[in-house]
Amino acid sequence: RLFTLSFYSSITGPILMRLNPETAHGLALKALKLGFVPGPGPISDAVLESSLWGLKFPNPIGLAAGFDKNAQVYEGLFKLGFGFVECGTVTPQPQPGNPRPRMFRLLEDGALINRLGFNNLGAEVFHRNFAKRRPSGVGVLGANVGKNKVVDDPIADYVTGIGTFQGLADYLVINISSPNTPGLRDLQGRQQLGELLEAAVNARKGEKPPLLLKIAPDLDDEGKKDIAELALQWGIDGIIATNTTIDRPDGLTGAAKGETGGLSGRPLLGKSTGILRDFYRLTGGKIPLIGVGGVASGRDAYEKIISGASLVQLYTGMIFGGPQLVQKIIIDLADILRAEGFSSLSDAIGAENR
Ligand code: FNR
Repeated sequence: RLFTLSFYSSITGPILMRLNPETAHGLALKALKLGFVPGPGPISDAVLESSLWGLKFPNPIGLAAGFDKNAQVYEGLFKLGFGFVECGTVTPQPQPGNPRPRMFRLLEDGALINRLGFNNLGAEVFHRNFAKRRPSGVGVLGANVGKNKVVDDPIADYVTGIGTFQGLADYLVINISSPNTPGLRDLQGRQQLGELLEAAVNARKGEKPPLLLKIAPDLDDEGKKDIAELALQWGIDGIIATNTTIDRPDGLTGAAKGETGGLSGRPLLGKSTGILRDFYRLTGGKIPLIGVGGVASGRDAYEKIISGASLVQLYTGMIFGGPQLVQKIIIDLADILRAEGFSSLSDAIGAENR
């Protein structure tokens, strides 16, 4: 049943793995843009379909933010099988990000460390690219918004992002959890987060797209409780758990493990699923959660779902596994759900808690 992408896996994949990771990423974007990466399109299967926030998801596997920062290749990404794609993080003004090198592969660990620092072409280019979307397109398209590095009023940047994309994006994400923009994670603190959420919720006009919050895995118990309470108080529509970690767990072997930045991939799996589980409990299952961090198999995705995720995203797993991994995860997830006795995705969400 797998759509063959043998060209990528036998030739291009190993070559990409030898290149500097940011160069490899640039080539992958070019290939996707030119339509060189074939695939089946969003994969749907009765057991995988769901409706959330009034949107129809053909399957619950999405691409996490940071891959398509400027919304240049989402059509190609949908072709790989993803049920949804999140573009960004976009900031109001274009900015170059941190000096290179700023992205590192820990091959032995199935992990990446990045300190890109929201390099992006800004809201205007993103808006233009988003507006090209074919109205008949299958799949759900989200916009993840952040703040520029140097600003007097960070909240104003989020308000700008929400105002700019609310008519175009199927859902919006407030990203306050990148470790690579100084002070950004301070916005997760009780006082600042309350002010941000109030402004963000009120920035939506008219049809009010779902507004999600993306959180870090590096939170203590009080921090988690504060975020959950404020999200409930302000009627936040979803929480994405989690972004990359600044932790360096024991057992990392990659030579780049000492680099500054956010760690993603396999070593993040357990930690991010733990946070997801905490938020399912802290919100009483009342806020839909997107589980992200370390997913590289159908089983990993299944674990996130029974821990409380309505949807799942990945990024690093695809870098190591190649684009064909997306279809494999989706097909395996459908098989696992059926084998575990679930007739629909919604029955499985948070099932380990029941
Ligand atoms: C990211 N991630 C990210 N997240 C976000 O909200 N905005 C962003 O701009 C980026 N940029 C980014 C760049 C790179 C190179 C990586 C590896 C990651 C975080 C990403 O969306 C995800 O939350 C984490 O990487 C954890 O998932 P994986 O990669 O372990 O599946």
